[in-house]
Amino acid sequence: MAADADTWLVLGASAALARAFARRAADKGARLLLAGRDTADLADAAADLRTRFAADVDVIAFDATAPETHGAVATRLAGEKRPNVMLAFATMPAQREMEHDPGLAAATLNANLAGAAAILLHLLPVLESRRGARVVIVGSVAGDRGRRRNYVYGASKAGLHALASGCRSRLHRAGVSVTLVKAGPFDSAMTFTRTGLRGVVTVERVADDCWRAAQRRRSVVYSPAAWRWIMWAVKAIPEPLFKRLDI
Ligand SMILES: NC(=O)c1ccc[n+]([C@@H]2O[C@H](COP(=O)([O-])OP(=O)(O)OC[C@H]3O[C@@H](n4cnc5c(N)ncnc54)[C@H](OP(=O)(O)O)[C@@H]3O)[C@@H](O)[C@H]2O)c1
Repeated sequence: MAADADTWLVLGASAALARAFARRAADKGARLLLAGRDTADLADAAADLRTRFAADVDVIAFDATAPETHGAVATRLAGEKRPNVMLAFATMPAQREMEHDPGLAAATLNANLAGAAAILLHLLPVLESRRGARVVIVGSVAGDRGRRRNYVYGASKAGLHALASGCRSRLHRAGVSVTLVKAGPFDSAMTFTRTGLRGVVTVERVADDCWRAAQRRRSVVYSPAAWRWIMWAVKAIPEPLFKRLDI
């Protein structure tokens, strides 16, 4: 491993997309910090990356909803010469479940949005001191317009999109790029039990898009790209009509 290799801190590293992204980073010779709640699972993932790619990998305990764990993550990142960040964690309970239990809706917003804000605000000062760093934030097409079937999760992603925009503006001055990937549905635990989803693609395809967009320092990309036009059309539907749609 080169002494000046990139390091990718992957937040929510057990996520299917995070794993696929980590494989790409390891394949390119990057060092990895896998951060998440299930450190036993991450230790297995780390062993796999070491075996397959001879990667240098560490595991860090991180819970988005436990801000007391965030300072230690920032301290670890500060020890890296060329740090980069991928934010992949999220939770998406069924909309109906959240309607029956509004506490679950609050927990979803807390993990996906408040948790993202808390960890990013810990990490920004570290990144500001590392010109050339890259940040990838995984958003969702669900954040582009609140739909009856998924509006709480959508709201958490809409907030995340705004957060990404503000972070991009703040870090731009420091020569650090922030890429927001608005993903459409892909195969993972999150979509495993969902019926009626259209246009589900492989997680590998979305990971490729995340990796490429980060390398090109793109600001906002859709994955797959066709979602840009689909969401353009969805956003153009007038509200009096949109509220009648069962989507
Ligand atoms: N799958 C899709 O169709 C889809 C579409 C659009 C966008 N996305 C977004 O893509 C990203 C990755 O999704 P995925 O489908 O690959 O995910 P996934 O396999 O369902 O995994 C989600 C991960 O988030 C972690 N997580 C949840 N709450 C957390 C918390 N409080 N602190 C730390 N980690 C937490 C989970 O950790 P544990 O293992 O500890 O539970 C899990 O590893 C997410 O941001 C998701 O919103 C997904």
